[in-house]
Amino acid sequence: MIFEQLFDNKSSTYTYIISSGKGREALIIDPVIENTEDYINILKNLDLKLVKVIDTHIHADHISGLNELSKRTKCSKIMGEQSSSEVLDVRIKDNEKIKIENIELISIYTPGHTDCSYSFLMNDRVFTGDTLLINATGRTDFQSGSSYDAYDSLFNKLLKLPKKTLVYPAHDYNGKKYSTIENEKNNNPRLQVKSAEEYAEIMNNLYLDNPKMMDIAVPANIKGLTLD
Ligand SMILES: [Fe+2]
Repeated sequence: MIFEQLFDNKSSTYTYIISSGKGREALIIDPVIENTEDYINILKNLDLKLVKVIDTHIHADHISGLNELSKRTKCSKIMGEQSSSEVLDVRIKDNEKIKIENIELISIYTPGHTDCSYSFLMNDRVFTGDTLLINATGRTDFQSGSSYDAYDSLFNKLLKLPKKTLVYPAHDYNGKKYSTIENEKNNNPRLQVKSAEEYAEIMNNLYLDNPKMMDIAVPANIKGLTLD
């Protein structure tokens, strides 16, 4: 299997390129528009045909490369049915299969960071978007976020996955590339709570600044910005 984890320095975003092998079909999760040329080069070097692109949610901190990649490769654009993106080809629901050849991703609706946040389980690993980060969790104070929904997504969905499941988030700000469900359950400071109320108490008292790009990124990601 080809599994490339790419990092965008500006937004600390992780982008994933997945394929069953050289010369085969590929899928990209959470691309950043400025890095489109890099993705195209990697696809070319590995002789991959990009067939699907997924955004885990409407991002507020960077402009997605979803629409630009689709413009250049004709790949199909996928997000959850709750997404406000105007350029999607496929809107998935909870517990649907997304296939590229013999690779299968299962969608898990994990609202809370936003109301359109999805995670994707692929065998031994799960792409958690901003729902579950390494040693942190996604903020819940904008984009129709909800700390109670986030608690449910975390405790009743993601943390119920097998404990050895690898966690691949959409961001990391400390150089960590992946974690496991077990490690997050035991060590993630946000997850050491006994109730949804306790979790909401933490999340409602973070007082974070809005992301610098928010006013540009959210409308651009709804409209599906391309480079020209
Ligand atoms: Fe986000």
